[in-house]
Amino acid sequence: MEKKNFYVTTPIYYPSAQLHIGHTLTTTMADTLARYKKLRGYDVYFLTGSDEHGQKIEKAAAEKGMKPIEYTDGIVKTFKKLWSKMHIDYDDFIRTTEKRHYDTVQALFQKIYEQGDIYKGEYEGYYCTSCESFFTQFQLDEGNCPDCGKEVEIVKEESYFFKMSKYADRLLEYIESHPHFIQPESRRNEMMNFIKTGLEDLSVSRTTFDWGIPITMDKGHIIYVWFDALTNYITALDYLDDGPLYEQFWKNNDEIVHLVGKDIIRFHTIIWPIILMAAGIKLPTTVFGHGWLLSSGSKMSKSVGNVVDPLVLIDKYGADSLRYFLLREMPSGSDYYYSEDALVSRINMDLANDYGNLLSRTISMIDKYFKGEIPVAMGDFDKDLLKISQEVIDSYQNHMDKFEMSLALQAVFKLVGKGNKMIEDSAPWSLYKDGNMERLTVVIYQLVEIIRMTTIMLSPVLVETKAKVIAQMGIDEKYFAYDKLSFGMLDKSFKVAKGNPLFPRIEIKVEEREKGKPNKANKEEKQKSNSKANDDNLISIDDFAKCQFKVGRVLEAEKVEGTEKLLKLSVKVGVSETRTVVAGIALSYQPQDLIDKKVIVVYNLKPAKLRGIESHGMLLAAKGENNLRLLTVDGDLEEGAVVS
Ligand code: ME8
Ligand code: MG
Repeated sequence: MEKKNFYVTTPIYYPSAQLHIGHTLTTTMADTLARYKKLRGYDVYFLTGSDEHGQKIEKAAAEKGMKPIEYTDGIVKTFKKLWSKMHIDYDDFIRTTEKRHYDTVQALFQKIYEQGDIYKGEYEGYYCTSCESFFTQFQLDEGNCPDCGKEVEIVKEESYFFKMSKYADRLLEYIESHPHFIQPESRRNEMMNFIKTGLEDLSVSRTTFDWGIPITMDKGHIIYVWFDALTNYITALDYLDDGPLYEQFWKNNDEIVHLVGKDIIRFHTIIWPIILMAAGIKLPTTVFGHGWLLSSGSKMSKSVGNVVDPLVLIDKYGADSLRYFLLREMPSGSDYYYSEDALVSRINMDLANDYGNLLSRTISMIDKYFKGEIPVAMGDFDKDLLKISQEVIDSYQNHMDKFEMSLALQAVFKLVGKGNKMIEDSAPWSLYKDGNMERLTVVIYQLVEIIRMTTIMLSPVLVETKAKVIAQMGIDEKYFAYDKLSFGMLDKSFKVAKGNPLFPRIEIKVEEREKGKPNKANKEEKQKSNSKANDDNLISIDDFAKCQFKVGRVLEAEKVEGTEKLLKLSVKVGVSETRTVVAGIALSYQPQDLIDKKVIVVYNLKPAKLRGIESHGMLLAAKGENNLRLLTVDGDLEEGAVVS
């Protein structure tokens, strides 16, 4: 069978400052997809890089008294250092200041000009230097940039224009007939509505600064930085010379995936495809726009100054833990409120208590009951384990293929959880005591298989951990290949070698957490809480703003077995986000009465485990003397609506 190809890209980030965990999220997603596809036997090409031109960089360099290229050289080094610490295994790192890129951008521009889709005119409009974007008066938000809220500049100058308007209908048709082109679905609708309002021709050259790629035939004009930046995706494949990479990963490839944040989805799903259409180049398969990491109430960004440094987190918790946390917590379609507490509890809950613990308990038992030799069972397996294993594998694949990494990981941890539960339920220590070695063999073998299968599935995410697991299990590496991903493939015994815990539990004392905070914030917070102590239990608006509430709709409800008060609910809290919430309301509500009820969910509450079920959020309810009533909304509101 012919090998399949997969081309995945990240945005090329601006080297105007150090990268934060938002950039780290996108790049980790891309790296994980690349590793997953490789594991499945694809030929993969993974591109990342830096977007070095434009007024913003020119200014930043000037402020430091440096030449732009000296300035970006320095920052690009820090990008590469971060990626290496995160174990990002890219195939190419493209810098827009490289010659290959100049040549490609100039040629592409020229080609589109010559066929008549670029013309010279006069530009008058608003420009946001921070976002490198032009806006019409209509688009402005109270006179400011609609994206970042900063002041815009009025500019009037001679400029080249790109005939975007001409292609609006064709683009819309393309999006309509290619449902996978824009993902997730919510972004697709947003973009279609945007295009339906009509597209204006786009100013694609500037004369007011120099730091960029000049138009070959009119050197006073610098090519618009987004035209320049977007072209990187084909420069790197050697489009200009129609090279073998271009042949394999663009022309003959039907999995070309651009991963981006939702801030730049418009550039990737409107400007970029129209450039490609105009140049007669086929369009990428998918542009996936994930949501934002939020911090202190808004999008984490250099300009707001609320960024979290990934290097600090890697040093504190390790790259694998950070990779896992980012992918597990980031919902596929919506935003996520970052906190270090959530990171610690996620690592402890899943990696230390569940996965790491399953490994160490299993190895200890193999040592104790089988002198360190993994017992191989041939049959009599638990039927529900066989069923769950296959369901988890299918669900993992299905979600990974749709870039829903959080859901894929949740599936894997269902199987991990099954392993730990099996230990409780089957009590191997009693089997041993009773001399029931036959059943004990089956139980231990099943645990080994769970570890083996989950380790395969986690390997694109936990890239250092796989080798550690293999070392401790003593199992030949070939049993961790993707074609061995099903129950019962281990057909030989190996000798285990107990090692250190994979993920030691992180204990953070309150004082220590305080220490980690920036000094200023710490002081302010102390002052706030001091004043708070004076007026009986009054909190400030900032305290309140820390809680996020959203409207949810109950999709499913059932009693938690063996409890009196607990119900397990599945609550839809956004277009593509559904959460499991365990609520202590069973004495006041029957499960079926809750279906379709609109409820208020505490959205950014740390997840917690109740009776082995992970509850992610809490419902607001008011307590009467004898009963309890849920808070709901007055009238009709969408799930995900923010309560404030
Ligand atoms: O836009 N949450 O570069 P950039 C999630 N050079 N992701 C975030 C994030 C956050 N708070 N902040 C940043 C540019 N990102 C252009 C791209 S591509 C041809 C040119 C991630 O440095 C996310 O992927 O501003 C977002 O789209 C990207 O970084 C923006 O990086
Ligand atoms: Mg940005």
